Amino acid sequence: MMDTLIEAALAARKNAHAQFSHFRVGAAVEDSDGRIHTGCNVENATYSLTICAERVAVFKAISEGARKFTRMAVAADTDVLTPPCGSCRQILWEFCGDIELTLVNLRGKTETLHLKDLFPRPFDASFL
Ligand code: THU
Repeated sequence: MMDTLIEAALAARKNAHAQFSHFRVGAAVEDSDGRIHTGCNVENATYSLTICAERVAVFKAISEGARKFTRMAVAADTDVLTPPCGSCRQILWEFCGDIELTLVNLRGKTETLHLKDLFPRPFDASFL
């Protein structure tokens, strides 16, 4: 599936600000109106302030008024496809629910799964 969402994630990856890890990631999330919001990882000399591509994409989308999401693509240059980190899984669950996730690398390898496959038994506001 070489669709627009994947292309957007691959393009966003090129903007990665990853001067410390040199590990570049791009993400693209599609909202329920079909709009695509992209993000790249943005690193910081205070390493812990780094933010992942997935969260940048989601937070950008939220700040543009989007509230419902259908799918996300995540692009990285790894043979074993790179999944969202634990913090991103929590944020994705909070804002996107059981979204469809397509992982992709630079050689066109893809895998599509759902967030629940990576993040079973999530904590969320329903417990509060
Ligand atoms: N990173 C992401 O942006 N998304 C992921 O799914 C995994 C990790 C970033 C964070 C950091 O800038 C670099 O990759 C290495 O961890």
